[in-house]
Amino acid sequence: MEKIVSLAKRRGFVFQSSEIYGGLNGCWDYGPLGVELLNNLKQSWWRSMTFRDDIEGVDAAILMHPRVWEASGHVANFTDPMVDCKQCKARYRVDVLLEELSLKKKKDVLRDLFPGEFEGQQSDEKIQNEFATRLSNDETVTKAIRQSVSCPTCGNKGTFTEARQFNLMFKTYVGPVEDTGAVVYLRPETAQGIFVNFLNVQSASRQKLPFGIAQIGKAFRNEINTKNFLFRTREFEQMEMQYFVKPGEEDKWFEYWREERMKWFLELGMKQENLQWHKHEKLAHYAKTAFDIEFKFPFGWGEIEGIHSRTDFDLGNHEKYSGKALKYYDEQTKEKFVPYVIETSAGASRSFMAFLCAAYDEEMVEDEMRTVLHLHPKLAPMKAAVLPLVNRDGMDDIARTMAKDLQKYFRLFYDDSGAIGRRYRRQDEIGTPYCFTVDSQTLQDRTVTVRERDSMKQERIAMDRVRDYLLDKI
Ligand code: GAP
Repeated sequence: MEKIVSLAKRRGFVFQSSEIYGGLNGCWDYGPLGVELLNNLKQSWWRSMTFRDDIEGVDAAILMHPRVWEASGHVANFTDPMVDCKQCKARYRVDVLLEELSLKKKKDVLRDLFPGEFEGQQSDEKIQNEFATRLSNDETVTKAIRQSVSCPTCGNKGTFTEARQFNLMFKTYVGPVEDTGAVVYLRPETAQGIFVNFLNVQSASRQKLPFGIAQIGKAFRNEINTKNFLFRTREFEQMEMQYFVKPGEEDKWFEYWREERMKWFLELGMKQENLQWHKHEKLAHYAKTAFDIEFKFPFGWGEIEGIHSRTDFDLGNHEKYSGKALKYYDEQTKEKFVPYVIETSAGASRSFMAFLCAAYDEEMVEDEMRTVLHLHPKLAPMKAAVLPLVNRDGMDDIARTMAKDLQKYFRLFYDDSGAIGRRYRRQDEIGTPYCFTVDSQTLQDRTVTVRERDSMKQERIAMDRVRDYLLDKI
């Protein structure tokens, strides 16, 4: 991870937010190459979702009516239990502290909390399961933490406060008065902007079930423990699609979308062995079934996308809370009902990081280390580099004209400084898939060398074929 974070900064993919002020925890800025990669990623998702008949797009406001978050369950349920160390004031998520206990410690905790029930031999699996289910309320959790966990910051034991539920939504106020009537939240997910617009979109686009609504946008969560670069941040981007189906057809569509979403990652170059499914045992408040797509990050497996079967939970609740009907009228059966929903919810920022990790490679080439990003050409921030071999005999003029022509169609880089080998390496490091070099032969026959990033193979093609060559590859 350290190498990837360092490359990301050095080459302008990602910077710490407000770095000159010491940074702001959990927030990151995308630099010149990062914004290209992120845009390409989002565009690829957008195309895969909306370049078909049955999915429409929206772009809803980040601030929404506060009742939205009561209806969605976020005011009541979007919480993490937390404790503070009274000694050093550090704050921790309870689940993180408890998960770090060894199996033996977990056994001891269960024995202390439930005398007589956990004596004798117990299987590891039973201990893990019992630990997860029994330690489910603030009282038992507080006891367990006070008895068994030392503060990871100051090392003291027994210094934790009682566990308290902490809501992860950022609160702010509309208008000049900061009172409870003016509270609004920064949205913690983009999904609700889709649900509240369900009937608007359906009637404007005259879609019939099954159909979907897709959205890309920022989401905010006041995460207690931000960690691992872009993995868990306080401000991030989501790419979400809600697919509305007839009740009873949800299982079929759930399987369909699981398959489609896995395919998307694979088609953009991820390897199957770095992706896996994780089935949720403990479901979120809205879900009937949920699976995550996990990616093998350098620090271990982590979720990059959730596929959720949400039933009529959201539309049903918005009907209740708003008093407005959100039913679909089926013209064939003449029935009115609230559709069920299959959700695909990917993190754009988290996928960005996964693609960066998947692409990063170091290899020895002629006794020298080459750092290369094997990004899919669709994702690569720069599609090509145009390089004059030397700055004389008109090679630079030809190369500049060629770059200018190509820039009408592609993001590309012109580089005329340094030895050609070093220039190739600079492009490898940022994942540029093709380099076109203008050399002395170009002056004679108007061909250029194409050098391919992954194989490093070179071939010659006619200069006037370069645009089509690139279009074809991308
Ligand atoms: N609408 C459902 C929903 O929001 P989620 O599992 O909480 O579900 C979906 O989030 C995706 O959003 C995750 O798979 C992850 O990629 C991304 N995500 C969630 N929290 C994040 C955070 N704090 N930082 C970065 N990405 C996050």
